Amino acid sequence: MSLFITFEGGEGSGKSTALRKISELLIEKGYETVLTREPGGTPISEEIREVILDKKNTDMDKRTEALLYAASRRQHLVQRVWPALKEGKIVLCDRYLDSSLAYQGGARGIGLEEVLNINLFATENTYPDLTLLFDIDPKLGLARIAANASREVNRLDLEKLSFHEGVRKTFLELAARYPERFVIIDASKSPEEVVADSMKVILARLEK
Ligand code: TMP
Repeated sequence: MSLFITFEGGEGSGKSTALRKISELLIEKGYETVLTREPGGTPISEEIREVILDKKNTDMDKRTEALLYAASRRQHLVQRVWPALKEGKIVLCDRYLDSSLAYQGGARGIGLEEVLNINLFATENTYPDLTLLFDIDPKLGLARIAANASREVNRLDLEKLSFHEGVRKTFLELAARYPERFVIIDASKSPEEVVADSMKVILARLEK
C-alpha cells in the first residue's frame, strides 16, 4: 500500500531527525520507505534549493521565492514521489506544499489562496495522504538551532522571530483547515516521545 506522508514544522522542530528514525522503524516492520526532502531530493531540485537558500540572495522577490519552491516541488514529484508511490512505497517527505503555504503564503504575506493556486498547478492537485505537523514555539526551535553547531544556517533561518511566529500560526490554521490529513505532534517533547507519537499515528493509518 503506497502512502504519501509529509513532515512539516518550523525551524528546530526536530522533524528531520525524527523522520530518519521513523524510516528505520518502518523498514524494521517490513515496509518499503523512500526518505526525501524539499526543496531538493533530485539533482535539479537540489540546484534550485541552493539558489533559494543562498544567504547572498537577500534581494530575492517573495513571488520569485514561491515560484522556485513550486518548481523544485514539481520536479521532485515527477522524478521521485510519483514513481515511488506507483511502486507501492511509503514516501516520507521532509516538507511539502504546506511549507509554501505557511512560509510564503502566511509569513511572507503573499496570501494562502495565491500560493495554493501555483502549487495546485505544480502538483496537479497532489495532496499528501497524511501530514504530521511538528508544532513548537519558535523561541524554543530557534534556541535548539543556535545550540546545534553542525546545522547549516540558511537564508530563512535568519528571519526575525515574528516571521517564525507567522509560520507557526499559519501551520496551525492549515491543520484546522485540513483536519482529515493533518495530525499535530507536540515537538517540544523529547526526541523519543516525538518519534513514538509519530509512529502511533502512522501505524494507525497503515493498518486502517
Ligand atoms: P530545511 O531543509 O531546514 O527545512 O530548510 C528549508 C527552508 O526552506 C526552511 O526555512 C523552510 C523553507 N521553505 C519554504 O519557505 N517554503 C517551502 O515551500 C519549503 C519546502 C521550504
